[in-house]
Amino acid sequence: MTQSKHLPGGPQVHYEADELMMEGVSLKEMAQAHGTPLFVYSKASMLSALKSYQDGFVGRHARVHYAMKANSSLAILQLFARHGCGFDIVSIGELERVKAVGADLGLVIFSGVGKTRTEIRQALQAGILCFNVESVAELDVINEVALELSKKAPISVRVNPNVDPQTHPYISTGLKGNKFGVAHEDTLKLYQHAQTLQGIEIKGIDCHIGSQITSVGPYVDAMNKVLDLVDAIEQLGIRLSHIDFGGGLGIQYKAEHPPSAQHMWGELFKVLDQRGYGQRQIIVEPGRSLVGNAGVCVSEVQYLKPGEQKNFCIIDAAMNDLPRPAMYEAFHEIVPLTLHERTPVGVFDVVGPICESGDWLGHDRSLNVQVGEHVAILSAGAYCMSMSSNYNTRGRAAEVLVDGSSSQLIRKRESTQDQLHLERLLD
Ligand code: LLP
Repeated sequence: MTQSKHLPGGPQVHYEADELMMEGVSLKEMAQAHGTPLFVYSKASMLSALKSYQDGFVGRHARVHYAMKANSSLAILQLFARHGCGFDIVSIGELERVKAVGADLGLVIFSGVGKTRTEIRQALQAGILCFNVESVAELDVINEVALELSKKAPISVRVNPNVDPQTHPYISTGLKGNKFGVAHEDTLKLYQHAQTLQGIEIKGIDCHIGSQITSVGPYVDAMNKVLDLVDAIEQLGIRLSHIDFGGGLGIQYKAEHPPSAQHMWGELFKVLDQRGYGQRQIIVEPGRSLVGNAGVCVSEVQYLKPGEQKNFCIIDAAMNDLPRPAMYEAFHEIVPLTLHERTPVGVFDVVGPICESGDWLGHDRSLNVQVGEHVAILSAGAYCMSMSSNYNTRGRAAEVLVDGSSSQLIRKRESTQDQLHLERLLD
């Protein structure tokens, strides 16, 4: 057997007799059965990630509201709904997804800086749990829409705690220069204003400081700032029934060692206990940490192209399938589906077929692969399929969910016909 290296993200993705497996299923067989590029997800990995939160919440009043922007495939939403999750949504399209899987609309939280009146109206009619409000102007619009419908809109204010989450600038959201949330120092005024509005029912407080956070420190800082505000708000006689700490916990892409959700929440509940809030209703909105390490993208090697400065390994997945490297220079491990002892091993830039220099999946990767063989791009469960596009008129990939030794196609490959059917020729 050849030497297999440590793979990021848990035991569900592993080599067995030189073949890469997802749980008990051969990824090569998946590629042969469904074609490539193909996303394959591990049910066990998602459920164990969820369990880590739930174990951290034992004896508390706390619930996971899955931030479906990370991966909104219906089967995945069904899985989380069946295991007790509510959802964090950011558009009416995402609300429609909750409806499509028959999940409890009363466990939906609506985040986002730009909710339209139509979206607010539909969410109110659906009876969601709470709107996370991001500005005074938005609060006033929610109030107006609620009054038009003779309803009261449940709200939390999203506070911007001005904490550095020590992550990529594009995915840090709790700093002063970000478009998100209400400045810490303006929050009290906003709650006082909310109290005067007939269409508003104050439910809680919310913050989300960023994504791919790999240490507990920024959360503790944010939590202390939010709890200072809770103290002040409740001194005004406004009772907050829940506190929402957002999402953001990171995963392993390369050599990161983020805390487990269970460990992190152990630490955070110490802070909550010290400050007298340990039995308050807590809400979290994780996305990436529930699905990121559970997914891989399987792709076929099309060409090996040696160059003077670089060798290219051209595969059939591209930036439209997996935009994170192009957008954030994000690192995803890339490994062959079959391990070989052949020499020499090439060092390649792994790229897609799209007509952009930014269409790369990995730089300077040592890979022992030949044309017609397959690679897997790892840690691809979050913000890959959900951020995919049709650029270059490429159809979106298919998706498969693996459960032990069985697998199910959960999304068919998008055909060109699927893409063209909304378009109209000139009269
Ligand atoms: N709640 C709110 C209000 C959010 O904005 C987000 C993510 C989450 C929860 C979930 O955060 P998570 O647990 O997944 O870190 N596309 C980027 C990540 C963007 C995150 C946007 N907001 C990436 O691929 O790294």
